[in-house]
Amino acid sequence: MWTLAPKCLRFTAGMRGKKRVKGSLVTVKNVEKNFGDFHVLKNISLEIKKGEFFSLLGPSGCGKTTLLRIIAGFEDPTSGAVFLDDRNVIPIPANKRPVNTVFQTYALFPHLTIFENVAFPLRLRKVTNNIVKDKVQEFLELVKLPKEGKKLPSQLSGGQKQRVAIARALINEPSVLLLDEPLSALDAKLRQHMLIELDAIHDKIGITFIYVTHDQQEALSVSDRVAVMNEGEVVQIGTPFEIYESPQTPFIAHFIGETNFIKGKVTEILNEKRAMVEFPDLGSSLTVYQDKSLIKGDNVKLTIRPEKIRISTEKPEGLDEKWNVLQGKVDELIYSGFQTKFFIEIGPKRTMFRVFKQHVKFFTDEKAINWKDNVYIWWHNNDGYIVEVEAL
Ligand SMILES: Nc1ncnc2c1ncn2[C@@H]1O[C@H](COP(=O)(O)OP(=O)(O)O)[C@@H](O)[C@H]1O
Ligand SMILES: [Mg+2]
Repeated sequence: MWTLAPKCLRFTAGMRGKKRVKGSLVTVKNVEKNFGDFHVLKNISLEIKKGEFFSLLGPSGCGKTTLLRIIAGFEDPTSGAVFLDDRNVIPIPANKRPVNTVFQTYALFPHLTIFENVAFPLRLRKVTNNIVKDKVQEFLELVKLPKEGKKLPSQLSGGQKQRVAIARALINEPSVLLLDEPLSALDAKLRQHMLIELDAIHDKIGITFIYVTHDQQEALSVSDRVAVMNEGEVVQIGTPFEIYESPQTPFIAHFIGETNFIKGKVTEILNEKRAMVEFPDLGSSLTVYQDKSLIKGDNVKLTIRPEKIRISTEKPEGLDEKWNVLQGKVDELIYSGFQTKFFIEIGPKRTMFRVFKQHVKFFTDEKAINWKDNVYIWWHNNDGYIVEVEAL
């Protein structure tokens, strides 16, 4: 398994270091789009920084491609504007915008060699042969295909074809590259590999990338920031860390990774950051972290990620009041090598909790936990997050 260093750190390092930021600032202002009676985009406003790797993440049909097509110029918004730096580009046709797009399908010319596919945008501009030769070679090297120029697209793998498409999209040196689910035709392993490459390309050329995906893992692993979309609206914008750790609605918490939800009622405000909440389905009151200025009587929904919950057949000792401890019974468990997923039944309503236990040393670390075992589960109250509040 591989992991990437947090992109935000690399991005900052890059900004301070050798990286030259050449991309445009992209500002989307109050964009609305109707197809007939269908309101596809609802008052979208975004500010994407120069050189940022920005993702639009949301389920299929939420309007990601439509928004990308409006930025590219293939589609006009019903109202609103798109600025590249200080210029409103809505009146400018797609082929005159300093923007290029990589699509899910590679859209290579099958009868042209790889070299000529990449050279195509330069040929249209009647660039001289010598320059074409050098530039195409430079961009084939950038996408790690330096020796494939003479081949035809049919002689390349899916991942290689997508790299050719990326080289072709970059050769005119756009200031913004739009990528619409560019990896979704590839298998999972290759997708991860291509993501690392895409990230390296982004770091090298330093232009603004806007990356569309419905895959939360993809968006979290490469983006500086992510806009989560749902039903034509942007519902949260933040770093991958913020989106995962502090989802602003149950939809976001649910869409980004797996989670548990429990509903409760605030019975006491302990201090600015903590409240006592009664959870009838659990038959317990718990201390919860909160950043929502709760008041007594508020109905709340708490989310807690399965990997943040500890589990044992033995009662945990020495925990202070910041820990929430519950008792339950193992209803199901799924062993998957690096971890086990437990489904724990808790409280009078037999509420199901997911708990993921990472195997550090599976055979020796602790007593095994089996089906139907009575267990304790516990988490630090900082790790729960209130995603919804309804006032009295
Ligand atoms: N040209 C069109 N005419 C009518 N409806 C469209 C058109 N393009 C997209 N839609 C609809 O708009 C919604 C959003 O589509 P799209 O932007 O492709 O979503 P996503 O890329 O997030 O899957 C979908 O319901 C889709 O059917
Ligand atoms: Mg789409």
